Amino acid sequence: MLFKKSIPQLIAEANENGEHTLKRTLSSTGLIALGVGAIIGAGLFSLTGIAAAENAGPAVILSFIIAAVGCAFAGLCYAEFASMIPVAGSAYTYSYATMGEFVAWIIGWDLVLEYALAGATVAVSWSQYFNQLLMIFHIHLPDMLLKGPWEGGVVNLPAIIIVCLLSLLLMRGTQESSTVNNILVILKVGVVLIFIALGWSFINPANHDPFIPVNPGEEMVKSGQQSLMAFLKSDDFGHFGISGVLRAAGVVFFAFIGFDAVSTAAQEAKNPKKGMPIGIIGSLVICTLLYVLFSYVMTGIENYTMFKGDAKPVATAFAKTGYHFLNTALIITIIAGYTSVILVMLLGQSRVFYSMSKDGLLPKVFSDLSKRQTPWKTNAIFMVFVSIFAGFVPVSDLGHMVSIGTLFAFTLVCVGILVLRKTDPKLERPFKTPLVPFVPVMGILVCVLMMASLPIESWERLAIWLALGLLIYFVYGKKHSVIRKQHQNQQSVE
Ligand code: ALA
Repeated sequence: MLFKKSIPQLIAEANENGEHTLKRTLSSTGLIALGVGAIIGAGLFSLTGIAAAENAGPAVILSFIIAAVGCAFAGLCYAEFASMIPVAGSAYTYSYATMGEFVAWIIGWDLVLEYALAGATVAVSWSQYFNQLLMIFHIHLPDMLLKGPWEGGVVNLPAIIIVCLLSLLLMRGTQESSTVNNILVILKVGVVLIFIALGWSFINPANHDPFIPVNPGEEMVKSGQQSLMAFLKSDDFGHFGISGVLRAAGVVFFAFIGFDAVSTAAQEAKNPKKGMPIGIIGSLVICTLLYVLFSYVMTGIENYTMFKGDAKPVATAFAKTGYHFLNTALIITIIAGYTSVILVMLLGQSRVFYSMSKDGLLPKVFSDLSKRQTPWKTNAIFMVFVSIFAGFVPVSDLGHMVSIGTLFAFTLVCVGILVLRKTDPKLERPFKTPLVPFVPVMGILVCVLMMASLPIESWERLAIWLALGLLIYFVYGKKHSVIRKQHQNQQSVE
């Protein structure tokens, strides 16, 4: 049988008072800031250049739009769930109520790929920019303290330090974290706007031509010189042309990861029914607009071919504008921007494990709250876990793993909306996803298309991670599940 949580039960659990509940302190604006804080980061400041140089050329603008469309469909589904089930845990909790414990476990486990590993990935990128900043001030850290053992160093120390500092901040409390986050978000959006405004007059239309660089393989398919199958298997696939625009959408999708983090804080929202849709859709719309303008200006100032192998394409493009004196400010702000992303990722991770532990699927240590009502032990455990990834593991492939894990979760959330509309059509839905089944079905299609555009190794890693999760579920979670225990007790009374 399917072990599901009932939605009224979930809401009652969220509203019960006592030391095991989280505080409701976040306003709608705070929620949008949380979303933007999680969204704008390494995806924009690093991956835009890589995706333009290797996959899409100036058409990376289109890739951003494709990724945004997929996120918008999924975001509308998230908003319905988040307003209806405003409790911590996000996609994990929604699937517990719709598709049962087993699927919920898979999603919860999968979300570690999103939150914890994205936190680690951005921390490594943070460390690169931080090193740039130190160099401006003539401080040179030895290479062995900037890279993990697999990249010729010993440990990425700055990455570990930032993860630890932010974890400690989260242990202090969400209110404090939210205030710090708001300041960081203002700085980050500021730098994006300044880049767009100052860069606009330096756009050289010649850099946008051709808009979609030619893919020789695609041309050969069109003229009948090569079969479609041969092209799909060839190295040409994904490098420019239409296939390149799609591959780039899978790459820059990373830049949108995080809007769903808003929903992980539902239990801390002052008015979740209104705040959830506003927070999710609002942050997504703001970021899409900024990304499209940003990539338009960036590929307009500098030719896309110049971004190949460039770890800091924003600085490269900005150097063309002649505002050199702003470079240091730019780097500082990017570092601040990354900081807020890591913060929200760590917050999201702890809240998902908090929920899973409350349900008995994970040990109780993950839901123990401190006097300040933060799940500090989870924060501490993930401080160590994320630090290990950030400090020692090469992150080149981590980004893909983060994307595939997140796309998988998004897909299941869209499926969940379809399931719940069938199984429980009368349930009160403060925000309704429009045009069902069109929106969730399109969400599923676009997300699966982006997953398909990612390299096969990411699929293999996803499978290994899920297999590990299943092992833990059958050895621990299933035996300790609160819902199962309640069910067994009921049966023995009867
Ligand atoms: N969206 C986040 C970033 O771009 C993960 O860094």
